[in-house]
Amino acid sequence: CGIVGYVGAGSAAEVIVAGLKRLEYRGYDSAGVAVVTGQPADGAPGPRRIATAKKAGKIANLVELLDAEPLPKDGVGIGHTRWATHGVPNDRNAHPHLSYDGRVAVVHNGIIENFAALRAELQAAGIEPVSDTDTEVVAHLLAQQLADGQQLAAAMRTVCNRLAGAFTLVAIDRDDPEVVVGARRNSPLVVGVGDGANYLGSDVAAFIEHTREAIELGQDQVVEIRADRVDVTGFDGRPAEVRRYHVDWDLSAAEKDGFDWFMRKEIYEQPKAIGDTLLGRYDTDGALRLDELRMSEAELRRIDKIIIVACGTAFYAGLVAKYAIEHWTRIACEVELAHEFRYRDPIVNPNTLVVCISQSGETADSLMAVRHAAEQGAKVLAICNTNGSTIPRESDAVIYTHAGPEIGVASTKGFTTQLVACYLLGLYLAQVRGTLFGDEIARLMAELEEMPATLQRVLDESEPVLKLAGDFAEQPSVLFLGRHVGYPVALEGALKLKELAYIHAEGFAAGELKHGPIALVDDGLPVFVVVPPKGRDMLHDKVVSNIAEIRARGALTVVLAEEDDPEIEPLADVWIRLPKVSTLLQPVLATVPLQLFACELATRKGHDVDQPRNLAKSVTVE
Ligand code: G6P
Repeated sequence: CGIVGYVGAGSAAEVIVAGLKRLEYRGYDSAGVAVVTGQPADGAPGPRRIATAKKAGKIANLVELLDAEPLPKDGVGIGHTRWATHGVPNDRNAHPHLSYDGRVAVVHNGIIENFAALRAELQAAGIEPVSDTDTEVVAHLLAQQLADGQQLAAAMRTVCNRLAGAFTLVAIDRDDPEVVVGARRNSPLVVGVGDGANYLGSDVAAFIEHTREAIELGQDQVVEIRADRVDVTGFDGRPAEVRRYHVDWDLSAAEKDGFDWFMRKEIYEQPKAIGDTLLGRYDTDGALRLDELRMSEAELRRIDKIIIVACGTAFYAGLVAKYAIEHWTRIACEVELAHEFRYRDPIVNPNTLVVCISQSGETADSLMAVRHAAEQGAKVLAICNTNGSTIPRESDAVIYTHAGPEIGVASTKGFTTQLVACYLLGLYLAQVRGTLFGDEIARLMAELEEMPATLQRVLDESEPVLKLAGDFAEQPSVLFLGRHVGYPVALEGALKLKELAYIHAEGFAAGELKHGPIALVDDGLPVFVVVPPKGRDMLHDKVVSNIAEIRARGALTVVLAEEDDPEIEPLADVWIRLPKVSTLLQPVLATVPLQLFACELATRKGHDVDQPRNLAKSVTVE
């Protein structure tokens, strides 16, 4: 998750560990460092080698190891803090990874989609992997190229051209102890240009205490740094034009990529997080692939009931999933708060699939529900963002969301990627069981693949919602209404406002309005209403009538509706325009303005949105 590379006259190990500490905020589960040295451990000169130190857990564990067994003070090295994707977080899977001949060490961010095929190829050549990571294959492939006489930068280009997926790689070569080489596709990598030393970092925080001169690498570029020069080429080997810039952020802004809060940063990261969650799960031949699912098609065909268990925001993702899964698969799907589940003697059997949604994978209430389901003989599938955490470990199957670490306590990118994972699950079940006809799966997948761009548009046009937060800062109470999948969106909008702004907020099913909540509506009460897409959805007109009803009673209406919906203008005090998508996918778009609204309103009130009062990111007690 965090990458540091260094070439200079200082001790690489020291510079790198300091840099890793500055990247700690990104979240990680293990850390490691490697340097090229001519010194064996006893201090006498000897043949060159790569010395590594790596440890699961906090950087403090790595520092403890380095205190006991210091690395040589040579000036070329790489370091990494890992957020596990392939392989659980342990010492062995921590980066850097060495090649079979010990000549290359590599660190990596991202996912190498075709790693299984590459690993099989290496195994056929007699190279057995020692870790469970996708990264290790890159070390071996690089070593093969070096053995063929290529230089490290050229080897990197050759190997990158064989990799599929999104990745940042940084490597060192035992036999070329003056260079560090980096490569970038999608995941960021920045060069720090120093005086007699150069740096690589996954962001500028890695080197900001040494230099504020930086070069951002573009897509598909390879960089070779030496102490006194930086060379950048494309994956095709042609020299690349680079943009050098001065970093004028201080350290805390650098950690947050220029955002003032992690939460805001995470809200804006959602297009990428969704893109990463979709990555590699849909073949060009039109078939969904959920490789890590660990359940056979026969098992999936036997399922006759699904029960989703989760807490908090993840529960609302489950409520959306119910609509999609039942519609696409015709399997009955219940959604239950995890802490209620096992105390009501639920009816489960071996054909029941219990789906636990949990960003952290450690929520005690959710874990207890998983254990109860397993004891009752149900199959358990986890949808989780934290590789190696307890809930996926104790489940029969898992779909990881690839949102990256979520630091803000209130879930944002965790939620939208959970929605995407639920859609993938629903569509995969439909594919296996043949419940969707024609090109429906392909059509929905095409919409999902467009979602990062569509959502980016929502973010780019969020000015009205930010302004609204200023206008509503003193409101004592806010209501949210929605119907069908808009109902969980309303609940999530209200939850965000409670969590962050400490304002009384309620979400209601719009159809329920007349059965009680309408009594709350009074002059000037702000009510957010999520309107289903027009035309394709019969509920549209009913929700529009609800808006008229509350408006007639003095409500201030904030309407989230499709951008060209002709009926909204006269009814909305504020219209938050959403791009056109299928009804079942609309929650991904409709939730984000509500996240922004709550975040903005809370920060205007001076609240800490990253750590709201009384809340914990992961509640590990029942
Ligand atoms: C805590 C957090 C919520 C989160 C819930 C479930 O209460 O404050 O933001 O939605 O736990 O967390 P999980 O990690 O299981 O998704």
